[in-house]
Amino acid sequence: MRVTGTGHASMRIDTAAGSILCDPWVNPAYFASWFPFPDNSLLDWDTLGQVDYLYVSHLHRDHFDAKHLRDFVSKDATVLLPEFPTSEMEDELRALGFTKFLRAPNEQVVELDGGLKIMIQALTSPTDGPIGDSSLWVEYDGVRLLNQNDARPTDLTVFAELGHVHAHLLQFSGAIWYPMVYELPQAAKTAFGKQKRERQFDRTWRYIDDLKADHVFPIAGPPCFLDDALWQFNDIHGDEGNIFPDQSVFLSEYAKVGGTNGIVLLPGSVAEVTTSGATTTHPQPVEEFFADKTAHLEEMRERKRGVIEAEKASWRHPEIDVLAGMKSRIEPLLDESIYLAKGVGGPVRFDLVGYDGQSVESIVVDFPGKQVRPYADEKVRYRFRTERALIEHLLHIGEVDWVNSLFLSCRFSAARIGQYNEFVYAFFKCLSTERLQYAEGWYDEHERSVDAEDVTLGDWVVQRRCPHLKADLTRFGIVDGDQLTCQLHGWKFDLPSGRCLTSVGHKIRATRVDAEASAPAGGPVN
Ligand code: FES
Repeated sequence: MRVTGTGHASMRIDTAAGSILCDPWVNPAYFASWFPFPDNSLLDWDTLGQVDYLYVSHLHRDHFDAKHLRDFVSKDATVLLPEFPTSEMEDELRALGFTKFLRAPNEQVVELDGGLKIMIQALTSPTDGPIGDSSLWVEYDGVRLLNQNDARPTDLTVFAELGHVHAHLLQFSGAIWYPMVYELPQAAKTAFGKQKRERQFDRTWRYIDDLKADHVFPIAGPPCFLDDALWQFNDIHGDEGNIFPDQSVFLSEYAKVGGTNGIVLLPGSVAEVTTSGATTTHPQPVEEFFADKTAHLEEMRERKRGVIEAEKASWRHPEIDVLAGMKSRIEPLLDESIYLAKGVGGPVRFDLVGYDGQSVESIVVDFPGKQVRPYADEKVRYRFRTERALIEHLLHIGEVDWVNSLFLSCRFSAARIGQYNEFVYAFFKCLSTERLQYAEGWYDEHERSVDAEDVTLGDWVVQRRCPHLKADLTRFGIVDGDQLTCQLHGWKFDLPSGRCLTSVGHKIRATRVDAEASAPAGGPVN
């Protein structure tokens, strides 16, 4: 099995029974904030795009590059489609000209022509990607590969059960706006960033240990930031709180925990994976490339300046009345929303900075009041500050997912009172009836599910499944004194009270071992 690195989370898998192109991403994403690094735009995409199968793991724009898919990927390719709850991915791909689809039943092995086998695991909680993320398992001639991508399943058992895996490709770096955009003292930001960086690596080691594949390939990031306004997010400034460590950092951190089987793919690197080993050729020595990282970034910044400026020029739509536009898009959804609106539980304020860089229009999305209105000098739970032009653009294009556009762009700042509230972001990625209904239904089921099994961790008896997204706490839970941390997403729980310290809601059921006979401290999950 041949794996060609094509940048970021993208790869081309070649076997004698057919080829699969995964997640080709070349054009900047999220308001021209993210670019693939190392640069993959100079690869021979005319050739790479001539494939038998296309796999797009999910609709995040650093995985689903509509322009590139339209221009460079063969429309004869059969799309291997994850079993997602909405038809958005199929609809978007059809609109680009794809006509052949293989809907892969979730977690079931499908045998394609010539003995090529695939299995796709779709994750479908409202917090997984833009309503859905997925991983692709491939087997040919005894060689097995898992492209886990940036998906975060609770465990990898479903893949491990199919036999020893030879190549495991997974995310290890950051892909979020936290904590950089928060209006916090620099020292706090650095401390939070450092924690996050460590947690990302811890999670990666766990997945690697789960599967024990012969070879581990760090993929799916980090992106690079070429706009001058975002340049500081590149991990080249010696900031220990930077959440975007690159593949060379992965190798050195992996070595510290005993990892010796890491393989970095540059765009154009080719790994020949067999049941007994892997040989890799690179367009340039990997170490040498990353030793010159700053110079590569500076060169890219100059080369892509025109692309960024052209994108920026398309954002302003002065004819749009933003308050009226937000009202008509958001208010009907507030009316439909029960769980998300209740979960947000308070007003969320948007401060929109005008073209002059100074004037500010403040708009409130009032979740309890179910309306969008001018800010009324009230206390708000979350406040976002961004350019008015960005919201104009979102309204102009009818964007249904403001996470997959505004928030991932990092072109905003944020302040909040109290804990992280996942419902805020879940709501703003569901600005369509189809998505909102799905998310509401999911939370409805989730809230009603009774998670009865308990396990003992240290001095505590706790529910086995994490109240966040059901990670098995016998594997991901770490108890330190009276606090439990679930390592899957790093959420913390105060065990005596059962209170989640990371996000509102999500109480955990917990009892001291020596007090099992008494009533549970956290009470039932509800
Ligand atoms: S499943 Fe997300 S923190 Fe536990």
